[in-house]
Amino acid sequence: MSAQVKYERLDKLLSKLGYGARNDVRHWIKEGWISIQGETATSPAQKVNPADVRLEGEPLDHPDGLTIIYNKPLATVCSRKEGGRLIYDDFPDRWLDRKPPFSPVGRLDKETSGLLIVTDNGQLNHTLTSPKKHISKSYLITLAESLTGREVDIFAAGTLMLENDERPCLPAELMIHSETQASLTLHEGRYHQVRRMFVAIGNHVESLQRTHIGALSLADTELKAGEYRMTTELQLMGMVQPN
Ligand code: URA
Repeated sequence: MSAQVKYERLDKLLSKLGYGARNDVRHWIKEGWISIQGETATSPAQKVNPADVRLEGEPLDHPDGLTIIYNKPLATVCSRKEGGRLIYDDFPDRWLDRKPPFSPVGRLDKETSGLLIVTDNGQLNHTLTSPKKHISKSYLITLAESLTGREVDIFAAGTLMLENDERPCLPAELMIHSETQASLTLHEGRYHQVRRMFVAIGNHVESLQRTHIGALSLADTELKAGEYRMTTELQLMGMVQPN
């Protein structure tokens, strides 16, 4: 079944893709910078197929939706409102002005690096974050204090309470690699969850990297810190949940 083409007003389309305000579009039309199927555009109200539009000869940037797999570097923040270096500094400026907004799927905190999906697809965002959809997230952790081995059972029990939370954490799988290194797989995403789980048992996370979202592995992406790759909902779900 082929996807149905959605015709949209030219000014609305360019504005929601972050190119500029409707006034800007009017100006570009006057300058003759926009073409539709090779013909110079004449009106901002023209209903167009996004695939037919060229701005200064270039096709539009992902008119059907934007989803990326990104390796978030350390010391970058996911929120648009915080100060400091933003993850958005790694992307074209225009993406910040897209509607619906281009947002991370579950935030990683400033000092956490690794795998992050960023998308304008609200349904995909929900699918990847809802505990009901069973898409786990795994982290590689370096700890300040030596592990005792008891942490595996504590986290697996599903009884660990975090400060200020009303429900215990869902069972989580800890794999110990060395005295101070481990991997933890979570089936929910609470605020600063990994760090708070270790605080709750008297330890402290020194470094944290998200290595997996479901079956998608950061190592397999071969992305360096700060790099990203385009994907689609279909491709991504095939990587996160094979079969
Ligand atoms: N747990 C944390 O503590 N921080 C993150 O960024 C993700 C999970």
